[in-house]
Amino acid sequence: MNHQDPPPSSPPPGLTWTEENYRALARFVQSYSGIIMERVAQKGVRERLTQHIQSLGISSIDDYLLLLQSPKSAALRGELISLITVSESYFFRNPDQFRYIARTLLPRLAANRQELGLRREIRVLSAGCSTGEETYSLAAICLWFQRRHPDLAITVVGADINPRNVELARAGIYRDRSFRQVSRDLRHEFGFPLYREIPEGYAVEEELRRFVQFKTLNLKDPDALKCHAGSDIIMCRNVLIYFEETFRNALLQTFQGLLNPGGMLFLGETESLAAVPAGFELVPCLRAYGYRKLHPSGHTP
Ligand SMILES: C[S@@+](CC[C@H](N)C(=O)[O-])C[C@H]1O[C@@H](n2cnc3c(N)ncnc32)[C@H](O)[C@@H]1O
Repeated sequence: MNHQDPPPSSPPPGLTWTEENYRALARFVQSYSGIIMERVAQKGVRERLTQHIQSLGISSIDDYLLLLQSPKSAALRGELISLITVSESYFFRNPDQFRYIARTLLPRLAANRQELGLRREIRVLSAGCSTGEETYSLAAICLWFQRRHPDLAITVVGADINPRNVELARAGIYRDRSFRQVSRDLRHEFGFPLYREIPEGYAVEEELRRFVQFKTLNLKDPDALKCHAGSDIIMCRNVLIYFEETFRNALLQTFQGLLNPGGMLFLGETESLAAVPAGFELVPCLRAYGYRKLHPSGHTP
């Protein structure tokens, strides 16, 4: 080996990150997904990206950046997002929000439908659902409630920008760490099993899996959320923290527009907002909080 040669494990020169091309990638990620790179990038992200680009047979980071912008590169953008997003999630995270939904919100939504002229279908969206723990937690509560109100239809949708997460959510197979906040009692509280043990861990029960739909959805895409107009519950927890303020505020207003009057938005435990967003009121949910959409007349539905 010539002494001038790089060691065998180093990437070719075109695949060495400069501050300039890393910043260009960060700009792309933010305009495509709203995600601020510094808020998600964990240790080793550049190395992971380099390996990924190398595995695609692309010879320079500049070429990779160009390719990412091609309309035909949806899969490539999905892979990039899978490499950088934080997917931490577990069942019944922030349990007081779920208790409030089961004991107070669903009964109120069911009772108010006729009065508000709404259809008999309650629509629930888990936006930024990661690997599905949040969506199945919502679905367990909704299924439990629906069994007591068989005339009511409830749909639960889980959506995430990361296609790998969506795949894992659909598979519905989890390990112990996804149940870290759930006691055995809570698992049995519903009167039906949420999952069964399998050699790989725990598999969500078929009935619960059939109750939810998962899809890939980018919250930054202005058209993606349109079909969720008329939602009654939107959970978007531990997602806004990765976005910059202007986009975060715009998204809160989009959620406000999508919700039915009296519908509620739930954010993460640590995502306290400086002010209650326009068109919402703050609602204590035991030791947690949620935001209820105000009726255009200003009264609480
Ligand atoms: C930390 S996880 C939160 C999971 C879950 N909501 C919870 O609180 O347990 C953040 C999720 O937001 C998703 N996400 C980030 N940007 C997004 C975007 N623009 N559109 C949709 N999902 C996004 C990520 O892929 C990731 O799965």
